[in-house]
Amino acid sequence: MPLLICRTCPRDDPGSGSFGVALDEAVSSADVRVRHVPCLGGCPNAGNVALDGPGKPRVRFSHIGVGDADVLLDAARRYDDSAGFPGDWDVPAGLADRLTAVTPKR
Ligand code: FES
Repeated sequence: MPLLICRTCPRDDPGSGSFGVALDEAVSSADVRVRHVPCLGGCPNAGNVALDGPGKPRVRFSHIGVGDADVLLDAARRYDDSAGFPGDWDVPAGLADRLTAVTPKR
């Protein structure tokens, strides 16, 4: 399961980078492949993550916190078992209103 975590959020904040460190710890025991990226284009909103996979759209969520680790992992499993577009998989209710971008691959 590919989970992209922004390593800069919250940008332009003294705590820049703290989001990624905290979320890493929260998901560390799970069977998830984490990649850290400099930015997911979701700033200035903090707490950006994305699900991504070969041939699948990138699906970004914003305003994520460490308390969302479980629902995020649930979403990653659903995404992994689907073609990737929301609609092909059920976005967990706890995340639906924080889905901020769907970017198809070219
Ligand atoms: S700094 Fe995190 S999405 Fe841009």
